[in-house]
Amino acid sequence: MNRKTILKIVVDIGMTVMLLFLMTYERIGAAVHEWLGMAMFVLFIFHHFLNRKWIGYVLKGRYTLFRIWQTILVVGILLTMVGSMYSGVILSEYALSFLPIKGGRAFVREVHMISAYWGFVLMSLHLGLHWGMMIGIAKRFVKELPAIGRWLLRGIAVLIAGYGAYAFIQREIGRYMLLINHFAFFDFEEPLIFFLEDYIAVMVLFVWVSHYFSKWLRRIKKKEE
Ligand code: HEM
Repeated sequence: MNRKTILKIVVDIGMTVMLLFLMTYERIGAAVHEWLGMAMFVLFIFHHFLNRKWIGYVLKGRYTLFRIWQTILVVGILLTMVGSMYSGVILSEYALSFLPIKGGRAFVREVHMISAYWGFVLMSLHLGLHWGMMIGIAKRFVKELPAIGRWLLRGIAVLIAGYGAYAFIQREIGRYMLLINHFAFFDFEEPLIFFLEDYIAVMVLFVWVSHYFSKWLRRIKKKEE
């Protein structure tokens, strides 16, 4: 594996961990949240710098169903990232509180909520698109698993994704995405690890859905050729 690939993987893992902690908002402290949000933006730019070849090809070549889906996700993530940053800067009470931009808080708060929860789902779907590559890399280090081992891992993934569907409903993530709930609820009595576990399971759910969906889209692509 070359240096650039290793760097890409480190940045991707860093962004995934940051995203999970960003979703905890005040549970890690509001000021930490703001600094982490800005660090996320820096990594987001760096992630695009490392993947600039892909961006260079956006207006070139044929668009297969897989590529359309991939591009929709990329554009969606870009919008949610801009939304999170724009609203975060205005709402900031610590890191950027000195900035004289404060107006329209009620609207901006809703922009932040929609961007954060849609961003979380879209980034998880985006991760799922590249899951096959992660499996490929893991295979280089672990010798070929026997069939029973492969089915066991698949079974565990289904169980976690199933729990993720439950956590998605129980944590009312869909209600935040649709702005049915206007304020996010954080239980300060609950150990943070339970919150993170649930959000990891929701992430696994969307990675799982996206991995199989993209496999199916790729198969269509092959049939087209
Ligand atoms: C990808 C980046 C980010 C994500 C995923 C994210 C996520 C969240 C979430 C889940 C909440 C709680 C729900 C809500 O009230 O909207 C929240 C609230 C908040 N975030 Fe972020 N955030 C990000 C970036 C930022 C940045 C860069 C700042 C400021 C510099 C910021 C400042 C705030 C503030 C002030 C609140 C409280 C909003 C309120 O008063 O209701 N966030 N964020």
